[in-house]
Amino acid sequence: MSKPAAPSPALPSIPHCVSSEVGAGGLRRLVLNGAGGSAQLYLHGCHVTSFQPTGADDLLWTSAHSAYAPGQPIRGGIPICWPWFGPSPEPGRPAHGIARLVEWEVQEAARLADGRARVLLALPQALPPEMAAWLPSGVQLRCQITVGAQLQLCLETTNAGSAPLAIEDALHSYFRVSDVRQIQVEGLAGMVYRDKCAAGASRVQEGPVRFVGETDRVYADRSPQVAICDGNRRITVAKSGSQSTVVWNPWVAKAAAMPDFGDDEWPGMVCVETANCLDGRVMLLPGTSHRTEVCIG
Ligand code: BG6
Repeated sequence: MSKPAAPSPALPSIPHCVSSEVGAGGLRRLVLNGAGGSAQLYLHGCHVTSFQPTGADDLLWTSAHSAYAPGQPIRGGIPICWPWFGPSPEPGRPAHGIARLVEWEVQEAARLADGRARVLLALPQALPPEMAAWLPSGVQLRCQITVGAQLQLCLETTNAGSAPLAIEDALHSYFRVSDVRQIQVEGLAGMVYRDKCAAGASRVQEGPVRFVGETDRVYADRSPQVAICDGNRRITVAKSGSQSTVVWNPWVAKAAAMPDFGDDEWPGMVCVETANCLDGRVMLLPGTSHRTEVCIG
């Protein structure tokens, strides 16, 4: 990523590559058309909701019951969890942090020499006061999204303050699958994970991950790549700067309990999240940055 730029009041016009439109709920959405693929990106949450390689189906899943409203997260796509993951240790704060709840600013948009489309967004400095009070002093967040035959996200946290800080993050990716009961996730065999469906018990993954019930696991996984195998389809999730991979499917009861998730939608999705959470949180010294990157294709 280049040096931080001042936010532009209007998106630079790049015909046929990056355009702006009104999306669901009246929220502003960018459409990125790169060589090899296209994506939709809501400024609300800097939230990618669609990625379609040319000639292929959308790789991402979104709920037909999602809210698209200020202050609420979008259900599906790639929510950005930051600066904490899961429930806040402090009461009264939203799950998965604040980044997915506010509108981000567009700082740059470009067509790369190879035809891919790229945008850079930043979490605004001017946040609602209660949210600003929850953030460590001097912390900054930007995300670069690049769209071609693959989708790349690079989430960069900078500690511009004077004290060390600990942050958690996740590129909480929801993938569309034919039937979660028929797929497997490869690349996690032998890894230790925390089983959130068993009060955080520590376990070791044997073989590929298969889904036979509610699944909510945080793997201590620094490996460069996992894959979702769905019949003849294989979706690769390659990453760097990430010490955790979260695998989640709510199954029957939890899906039914969530107002923004259809009761019958759970078989069609799986989350494989590129994260730094629990023991994998990131420690940032003053003046340093951390990048969490994923490449999906
Ligand atoms: C996953 C968590 O990442 O996100 C789950 O591991 C959680 O515990 C899920 O239920 C969805 O969270 P939310 O806040 O979007 O409903």
